[in-house]
Amino acid sequence: MIFNTRVVEPSKPFADKANLKRAEHTALLKSAETSYEDHWAGLAKNNLVWKKPFTVPMKWNPPFVEWFCDGELNISEQCLDKHLNGSTAQKTALIWEGEPCDDLQPCERKTFTYAELHAEVCAFAEGLQRLGIKKGDRVALYMPMIPEAVISMLACARIGATHTVVFGGFSAESLRDRIIDAQAKCVITANGGFRRGKILPLKVAVDKAVSECPCVESVVVVDRLGETAESAYRNSKSAFTATQMHSGRDHWYSKCKIAGSTLAAAALPAEHPLFILYTSGTTGKPKGVVHGTAGYALWTNLTCRWVFDIQPDDVYWCTADIGWVTGHSYVVYGPLSTGATVYMYEGAPDFPDFGRFWRCIEREKISIFYTAPTAIRAFMRQGNQWPQSSNLSSLRLLGSVGEPINPEAWEWYHATIGSGKCPIVDTWWQTETGGVMMSPLPGITPLKPGSATRPLPGIAVEVVDDNGIPVPRGSRGKLVITKPWPSQLRTVHGDPERYKNTYWSTFAGPAGAVKEPYYFTGDGAFKDADNDIWVIGRVDDVINVAGHRIGTMEVESALVDHSSVAESAVVGVPDSIKGTSIYAFVTLKNEVKQMAGWNDVKKQELARELISHVGGIIGSFAKPDHIRFTDSLPKTRSGKIMRRLLKDVATGHESLGDTTTLEDVSVLASLRQSSDDE
Ligand code: PRX
Repeated sequence: MIFNTRVVEPSKPFADKANLKRAEHTALLKSAETSYEDHWAGLAKNNLVWKKPFTVPMKWNPPFVEWFCDGELNISEQCLDKHLNGSTAQKTALIWEGEPCDDLQPCERKTFTYAELHAEVCAFAEGLQRLGIKKGDRVALYMPMIPEAVISMLACARIGATHTVVFGGFSAESLRDRIIDAQAKCVITANGGFRRGKILPLKVAVDKAVSECPCVESVVVVDRLGETAESAYRNSKSAFTATQMHSGRDHWYSKCKIAGSTLAAAALPAEHPLFILYTSGTTGKPKGVVHGTAGYALWTNLTCRWVFDIQPDDVYWCTADIGWVTGHSYVVYGPLSTGATVYMYEGAPDFPDFGRFWRCIEREKISIFYTAPTAIRAFMRQGNQWPQSSNLSSLRLLGSVGEPINPEAWEWYHATIGSGKCPIVDTWWQTETGGVMMSPLPGITPLKPGSATRPLPGIAVEVVDDNGIPVPRGSRGKLVITKPWPSQLRTVHGDPERYKNTYWSTFAGPAGAVKEPYYFTGDGAFKDADNDIWVIGRVDDVINVAGHRIGTMEVESALVDHSSVAESAVVGVPDSIKGTSIYAFVTLKNEVKQMAGWNDVKKQELARELISHVGGIIGSFAKPDHIRFTDSLPKTRSGKIMRRLLKDVATGHESLGDTTTLEDVSVLASLRQSSDDE
């Protein structure tokens, strides 16, 4: 087993001043160990504002859990109202920067104090109510990274509507499927957003999607391209198309707001579903991961204070899009609940050039910066001149999320961005976990480049074999969570069986070594000699491309949706920037191969067409990087595609392991032949 053993000792300033000090950390580990329910009950009492206090800490009816369930609260109150009584009311809650920016025009910049953000949220929450949105209704968001996205999430939460944010990079079809699955009554969008100098045609996609969604009664549209962005819009050279508003269904966001509203946050049960977020699994259909209110509010707040050490004078920047869970937990709910100043940027890291992020950090004096290894590797490749052209001395803590960070990227991030003085918190977690589960703690945990180190206090993680027995240190196993935790997903929307089967059936208990079911993460990992955990990556048919989770089956279904394709099999192969890239093997229908004039040029054209077809069905981020046409796919005698062999072919590995179950060994030879040809 190869791993980097360099250890960076905890930094002294953090040990002295961090929110979480060593003694408290030790006490928390102990209380979680000795009295699990009381441990969490104490934290929930002290760190959340309750409208009605809870008396029952936890109800565990495996695999379904409820936390603090007879209490009532509202997460928008934790993020806004809680801050209004003292000086935080006038503190900047949100700094937003638009993407359009060149020598002629300064970047668009908006700020909101906590009092202003509260007013905006109340105004829109009341507007949503007037549109007929009630507690328990679902509202879909398909938005660019603009303040109205944050306001919309908080406004939904304020009235008890469950939001489902769909990343703006998803196609109209993916949006439609999510709206239908969630049975969303309303969609909030914008007439565009800026990304890498181009306009995202969000409203056009919404119109296409909603035309097939009878559940949608209203669409609210933020005028992102209107007055304020007019010149940027012209400069983007995108073709002008006036926003089409469907009368009776579509409403401008600005017209919906009820100015001067002080709408009180609804008292919601602790378990009230705050949001549904769709994520890829091992089947073609994404799962609607459901999160509740209180447990999620508690853990996102605590992890912001413990892991990111957010302090009153920090300016905090998490670069994730709000369409992903990292955006939910660490752009919106967690940091705002701590009263932080949150910086938010609309666009791409390389627009207009690779210096953009570093200029933002210098200008806004960002002190905490949280991003993904893919971005770090992309910056690293561009050279040090970009970060070195900006003054990054305001930074005091760096974070990494979404995929394993390779030690080389870690070292570059540490030395070049953090000047060797900023701890890096490598945070391991998932859409399903709601918040960070494993991470070094600044000032407490020694850092190891490439390891997320230890679980946080209260989180019970283990690396086990297929029988649920912990594997020896140094051996690979499956990463499981052995006890329920407050911010865990509650179910899969509309499909509790799938929730059970996906997460709780691999280590189901009570048979064998496992007394209660373990939550299976889908990740492989090992523990090193110090008991620190190294997450290796997915062990199921999910691949992590540039930090985006994609089910191989989703891509395969999109490929076979094309009229020329008979069969396809998708595997992930290592990529120096994206971590993993998508490699698709495709067999074509006979009539295509027998077509007159079928040649290499036609093949290449079709490959390009298939790539864009997948983009159209799922979204651009899921486009295959490689397409290989083949006459057949290696299958077992029972007809299962042997992906392991395909991966070997795709990566050019010779050692093909056991092929005795292969139905037709000649398939492999022909695959090898075709790979040699290309
Ligand atoms: O494989 C793990 C990887 O990302 C998966 C979760 O993806 P998603 O639900 O999209 O959430 C991403 C943001 C939390 C995990 O199963 N992953 C996430 N963080 C890390 C990681 N792998 C290694 N190290 C990490 N720090």
